[in-house]
Amino acid sequence: MQTQIAVIDYGSQYSQLIVRRVRELGYFSRLFLPEQLNSVGRPAGIILSGGPRRVSDPDAPDVDFEFLKSLGCPVLGICYGMQLLNCKFGGEVSRTGDREYGPAIMRIHDENSLMKNMPSESRIWMSHTDSVSDLPEGSEVLGNNLKGQPVAIRWNDNFYGIQFHPEVSHTEHGRTIIGNFLSMVKEKPAFLMEKFKDELLESIARTVSGKRVVCAVSGGVDSTVLAALLKEAGADLHPIFVDNGLLRKNEVEDVKGQFKRLDMEIDCVDASDAFLKGLKGVTDPETKRQIIGDLFIDTFFEKAGKLELLAQGTLYPDVIESATSGSIASRIKTHHNRVDRIIQLQKEGRIIEPLSELFKDGVRELGQTLGLPSDILHRHPFPGPGLAVRVIGEVTRDKLDLLREVDAIFINILKDTGWYDRIWQAGAVLLPVKSVGVKGDERAYEHPVTLRAVTSTDAMTADWVFLPHEVLTIISNRILNEVEGVNRILYDISTKPPASIEWE
Ligand code: XMP
Repeated sequence: MQTQIAVIDYGSQYSQLIVRRVRELGYFSRLFLPEQLNSVGRPAGIILSGGPRRVSDPDAPDVDFEFLKSLGCPVLGICYGMQLLNCKFGGEVSRTGDREYGPAIMRIHDENSLMKNMPSESRIWMSHTDSVSDLPEGSEVLGNNLKGQPVAIRWNDNFYGIQFHPEVSHTEHGRTIIGNFLSMVKEKPAFLMEKFKDELLESIARTVSGKRVVCAVSGGVDSTVLAALLKEAGADLHPIFVDNGLLRKNEVEDVKGQFKRLDMEIDCVDASDAFLKGLKGVTDPETKRQIIGDLFIDTFFEKAGKLELLAQGTLYPDVIESATSGSIASRIKTHHNRVDRIIQLQKEGRIIEPLSELFKDGVRELGQTLGLPSDILHRHPFPGPGLAVRVIGEVTRDKLDLLREVDAIFINILKDTGWYDRIWQAGAVLLPVKSVGVKGDERAYEHPVTLRAVTSTDAMTADWVFLPHEVLTIISNRILNEVEGVNRILYDISTKPPASIEWE
């Protein structure tokens, strides 16, 4: 699909979010590095993102201003992008000592163009140390902060800049501002999922024609949508499901049933003994991940046999995390879709990644247009290393069995009380300490479990869920009464950051 709005990434942690917001408004957007500007094609609009650098740094990322002007399309600079454009137009940016982080108020002077349908005062979200200290001639201030500094500028009919971040939800009318910018663009919004799906199906059909396609499925949203898409495109598909023994209660049967409903057979490999053996005596979380990842790859490739084509459920954030600046996420999580064997297959042209243009919400929407049932599309994410990262310390079969029971009770009650669909992700964690209790008339010395339920939009940040006391009471009573070996239930009330969603 043709890029309509090119977002140039100057390294802001919010760059991906700009792309998402633009797509939400119906325009197909992609992220590019500053040096890729000349190869973007002819987009209908350009947004320069924020970034951590100072425009005056000797090696600060730049923009090919003459090229940008020659495109003749509307351009919006955000934060660093705005400061860069102000300098290009002959203005100045300096360290005024007025650094701003967090909420501020914008007062607008102009109710047209970029500030159409905006109240005279609104809350904006700032994150900058430098400020615009001198405006070039002919420019117009569209909005100020309460100190009177310009926070929204129009340099000419095509070039606009804002000091704050319209893409974050803390900016009250951010969506309106982005929408106003897009209304200046000469093209109509063209990002319709139905159309995207049709184009995707056509291109997949061409690639897979006459070839055997293998993919790994987990029952999660991404791999299920991937498999359904490939099937729809007429691929000779062989989905493989590796049972690593670290799954939830009844998960193998559930996943088989799920694919049966979608009229697909999956090849299930029971490798649980090998995984448990590999994890024996291991307590370090990253070592666990490494062992599980390596065993997964070995098991999968052994089952897959000689590969003609391997389909992977890589999403757009994974692609831009490895391709663009400013991303720390790829260093925090260990990804297994770029290991040596896969890189080799990629070189041989044997990998297809049909979801690689989509964010998670786009995958769900695509799944919906493919007719996948809602319960499949709204399944909570579950980590690849499974319960191994929820059994803190050494993983044993007994601990896994215990945790499976606790987890099943917790999740089923969330479903029964209508909370499951309001939660991004929930699960239980078995702690490696013991606490004293009384069971019957006897002293019990058993493990506590902690329950975690969070809301999120992309797992980058998360908030704990304010479950009602009545629901927590039912959950706690049932676990304490029904699960042997647990005598204490905790509820995790930590946000991410600083805590992560998983405990390991
Ligand atoms: P954290 O714990 O980093 O989790 O806040 C963010 C999201 O990623 C999932 N997660 C993983 N997924 N392999 C995966 O496939 C992993 O090693 C892994 N670690 C965390 C986690 O469940 C949450 O959805």
